[in-house]
Amino acid sequence: MRIVLLGLPGAGKGTQAALLAATAGLPHIATGTIFRMAVAAETALGSQVRLILERGALVPDQLTIAIVRERLVQADCRNGFVLDGFPRTLAQGEALDSILADSGVALYRAVYLEISEERAVARLAGRRTCTHCGATYHVQADPPERGNLCRRCGHPVVQRADDAEDVQRSRIAAYRRDTVPLLGYYQQRGILLSVDGDRPSGEVAADLIRLLADAAGGGGADDRG
Ligand code: AP5
Repeated sequence: MRIVLLGLPGAGKGTQAALLAATAGLPHIATGTIFRMAVAAETALGSQVRLILERGALVPDQLTIAIVRERLVQADCRNGFVLDGFPRTLAQGEALDSILADSGVALYRAVYLEISEERAVARLAGRRTCTHCGATYHVQADPPERGNLCRRCGHPVVQRADDAEDVQRSRIAAYRRDTVPLLGYYQQRGILLSVDGDRPSGEVAADLIRLLADAAGGGGADDRG
């Protein structure tokens, strides 16, 4: 099953992608996490993207596509993947189609997590992220361990630098300008699924899994992807 998740910053893409990937036994590939890890590790990629992430702008398509292409040919993606944060532009969407076509497969579904901008901003303000493994928490909905430690790996949990209010605004503007057109792109192909993301994450996950199962039973896409 080859799935992409779309939605505003803070819509819950990372949260749902992790749950879905664990349920389906598929790799969860998050371009934002790949970039943040590269910045933290001070790699060549990290120095290329650090200022872009700090501004809340998009990393250039060519670079992002090359990274995803390299990741998707790895053996663990043979039976599918859950992509979180990619594609984010029409050019990335077209590139993903062509990467998959080169392997004789196709995208199964694009899932749109619908949430209001107001709710997204509230979630981003309360989000905390593990400095080591990237696990995500929310100060109210899903707090980390006492002492701000990650439940998964025990490392400190902090606020992401790009969750600052002015950077959030840039990220939301980039989403509206560059990513929203992808909804029409997938809708036209009949592979867009919309899910109400403004509910507790367990409910969203259950709905998402049900919709994917219904789609598998009811057809609508030529290829299970
Ligand atoms: P990225 O890391 O992809 O950030 P984003 O798209 O802005 O998405 P977020 O991670 O902010 O939110 P999310 O939807 O994953 O929400 P989450 O599950 O964490 O990208 C960061 C940067 O990298 C970009 O700005 C860009 O510079 C660069 N980049 C990445 N990909 C790129 C690409 N393809 N092309 C170019 N540049 C790229 O949830 C948010 C919070 O809400 C959490 O605290 C969570 O615990 C909480 N929460 C989640 N679900 C619920 C719920 N149902 N109820 C209550 N709380 C919830």
